[in-house]
Amino acid sequence: MNAKQVKDLWKLRNAEKLGDPTRMPRHVAIIMDGNGRWAKQHKLSVSRGHRQGTETLREIIRHTDDLGIEALSLYAFSTENWSRPAEEVSALMQLILDFFVSEIEELDQKNVRILILGDKSALPEKQRETLLEAERRTGGNTGLHLNIAINYGSRAEIVKAAREIAVQVQSGELSLDAIGEETISDHLYTAGQPEVDLLIRTSGEMRLSNFLLYQNAYAEFIFPEVLWPDFTVEEYDRCLKEFESRNRRFGARVEE
Ligand code: FPP
Repeated sequence: MNAKQVKDLWKLRNAEKLGDPTRMPRHVAIIMDGNGRWAKQHKLSVSRGHRQGTETLREIIRHTDDLGIEALSLYAFSTENWSRPAEEVSALMQLILDFFVSEIEELDQKNVRILILGDKSALPEKQRETLLEAERRTGGNTGLHLNIAINYGSRAEIVKAAREIAVQVQSGELSLDAIGEETISDHLYTAGQPEVDLLIRTSGEMRLSNFLLYQNAYAEFIFPEVLWPDFTVEEYDRCLKEFESRNRRFGARVEE
């Protein structure tokens, strides 16, 4: 057995522990909420809460890859997050930088392809260059799609798609009649990836907060009460189990 076969078997075994591997989500999206409240509970700075949240993120990425899930989207920094105190924004930017510098080797080795969702042009130069390099370096990989949303807003993403399509129509490259749902999907950051099957938002908040609005059309939502820094692999497995038990109908009438 070669290394890849061993890994595939291991992934299958891990997935089997959860039950029926065919009911695993293909794409999981996570809104990592609760770092601030965790910090407050522990009488620590908000930045320290985000640092702890980064530890959770590392574990969850590893576990998602081990399970052979195709795509994982994580909401790290929204376009609205710039309005947080300067100290917090700067700590988040530093954590993002540190994360990519320290993880890139392992992620690349694991065949993970990194994609940044959002407008990188507004980011500090160091962060922008590092993120671009991570995308370049892993762009040819064929494993887990790891999407990290940074300076991301879903409505802006849809507007960007609409503009790109309009340009194609204007130039005669695309006819109006040829525009379908796929055309929009093809112009989103996540083009070519499966739609989101499971959306998890930690900390008990039940909002989408402008995250992957188009891609979440038929997603199952799970809102664990636990704060993101306390979210464990076991808690994640519970969410995957819960997903497995959901009856997904996609608008159709399916007999039980
Ligand atoms: C929401 O918690 C979380 C964020 C705004 C940032 C999430 C970022 C990380 C987990 C780490 C940095 C990212 C990478 C890619 C290394 P909150 O602060 O809104 O929590 P609260 O609602 O309890 O205040």
